[in-house]
Amino acid sequence: MARPDGPIVVCVINLKGGVGKSTIAALLARRAYTQRRKNVLAIDIDPQANLSQALMRSQYTTFLNNKDPSIVEVFAGYRPPAASRRSASSLGASDVAYTVLGDDEISLQLIPSRFDFSDNLTQSVRPDPKVLAKFLAAEFQDKDLIIIDCAPTESVLTHAAYHASGLVLVPVKPEYFATIGFPLLRESLSDFSRRNRGHTIEVTGVVINNGFYHGGNNGGPEKSRALREIRDEATKNGWHVFSREIPFSRGFPKLMRGDNSYSGNADMFYQFANEFFDRIGI
Ligand SMILES: Nc1ncnc2c1ncn2[C@@H]1O[C@H](COP(=O)(O)OP(=O)(O)OP(=O)(O)O)[C@@H](O)[C@H]1O
Ligand SMILES: [Mg+2]
Repeated sequence: MARPDGPIVVCVINLKGGVGKSTIAALLARRAYTQRRKNVLAIDIDPQANLSQALMRSQYTTFLNNKDPSIVEVFAGYRPPAASRRSASSLGASDVAYTVLGDDEISLQLIPSRFDFSDNLTQSVRPDPKVLAKFLAAEFQDKDLIIIDCAPTESVLTHAAYHASGLVLVPVKPEYFATIGFPLLRESLSDFSRRNRGHTIEVTGVVINNGFYHGGNNGGPEKSRALREIRDEATKNGWHVFSREIPFSRGFPKLMRGDNSYSGNADMFYQFANEFFDRIGI
């Protein structure tokens, strides 16, 4: 049964690259479906399409070859003519949501991205940043959780993610310059809130992703310094920091390549996932 107050929409964002946004989005989306039995939609709005590749695996190539609808068509607002239909048509949930796991009742679905996504947008006169929010409001109210994986740079796509989201999750790696993106993100979010007074968007928390530390090295003084800086900066912004950290795991890059053979430190990720699901209330 759908949530009476609609889906919880979370965008995973950090204006710094390579901090684990796509990895965390993919793992949380899967876990919400497999363990919490939630109806989940993952959305890839990054033209790098890492989330799409992680969730679709070998099917991603088939999807590209078939020219199936993607996030590009969501932004365009219609389904273009094809060999099977020589006119443009309207775009619904079933056209664009690829089912990763599950059935009609409860599933993990994905709106995939395509590498030509940004070209498509820059060619259009002025893409409407509210298109994604409107599409989700019209087509996906039966979902419990919607997770949006963002690109690391601010663009109309980031604004589209904000318009569609009630919550923001900020992954960060405890490394030199870890918080370099925090002031940019804070500014970007307050600027958005100033321009959209009716919209409440909140940072649900910062999650520390130990993507660099392994082989018995827990990071040493550099990591402790970075952790202190992350906590200080987060406190300054009024952002919660999740108490469970995400461990380094060789299993995560494998999973992102579609190899499920090794679960590594998965249990530690699941502890964070539980904390996250409890905090957002699903
Ligand atoms: N906890 C981790 N342990 C091991 N490897 C990790 C971990 N987190 C992320 N990685 C690896 O680090 C790389 C970057 O992760 P990911 O693609 O998720 O980051 P991102 O923030 O989405 O990057 P981008 O800014 O390019 O979108 C990937 O190769 C991923 O597999
Ligand atoms: Mg990414």
